[in-house]
Amino acid sequence: MTKITIPDILKRKRDGKKLTMLTAYDFPFAQIVDEAGIDMILIGDSLGVVVQGNENTLSVTMDEMLYHTRIVSRAVEHSLVIGDMPFISFQPGMEDTVRNACRFLQAGATAVKLEGGEAVADRIRAVVQMDIPVMGHVGLTPQSVHRMGGYKVQGRDQAAAERIMKDAKAVEAAGAFAIVLEGIPMELGRKITKALLIPTIGIGAGPHCDGQVLVLHDLLGLFERFNPTFVKTYANLKSQALDAVKRYKEEVELGKFPSDEESYK
Ligand code: KIV
Repeated sequence: MTKITIPDILKRKRDGKKLTMLTAYDFPFAQIVDEAGIDMILIGDSLGVVVQGNENTLSVTMDEMLYHTRIVSRAVEHSLVIGDMPFISFQPGMEDTVRNACRFLQAGATAVKLEGGEAVADRIRAVVQMDIPVMGHVGLTPQSVHRMGGYKVQGRDQAAAERIMKDAKAVEAAGAFAIVLEGIPMELGRKITKALLIPTIGIGAGPHCDGQVLVLHDLLGLFERFNPTFVKTYANLKSQALDAVKRYKEEVELGKFPSDEESYK
């Protein structure tokens, strides 16, 4: 399989072909996502919730993100690997932003993603000027959980929708190659997708986006703490894993495992 490039991603919008993106955080799952032919793999800071068990993403550190980026990059042959810039990696200033974006590339990523619109346009521009491709992220931005008062759909009234449209345009003008639209009404997702030349990747932003992204653990049924409307569960790995572990326990306790077959003669 050939490696997906940034120009490939841009061409897909021009050709009207949908893009796929999923998160992955470790070697075996990154291999599965890559082998399935998914276009982009995001090492999302959502790992703070679905892997580390935290309430939100705010405690995830750069070092943790780089650790997972190295692991995922080792597994990937085809997909474009994107490192998600965690809280405090770009908020303090331009210099921190550029240094941390560079660190993601050293760890094996091809691009970085960062949350925010107009307010972070200068950061995006600075990273792009260093030839590091940037994916934007507007609408429901999980690192702004406290400002939003929880994970709530954004852009429901006209003023809020206009602000998100302005944010998306600012991200494009700053040089981003693509943008995640999260947790917004589908009509706003459609309008932003039409207004931008760069691809929009939706998560809870309706069917009109140029591509879609989901958190892998949601799609596979490995995370049950909350189940937003936009998630479709394609497998129930939690119950399969639970069943396997229970059968192992039972067989050990009954003396059925290991049998002759699993023992050295
Ligand atoms: O952290 C993450 O997984 C994300 C995606 C949901 C877009 O930002």
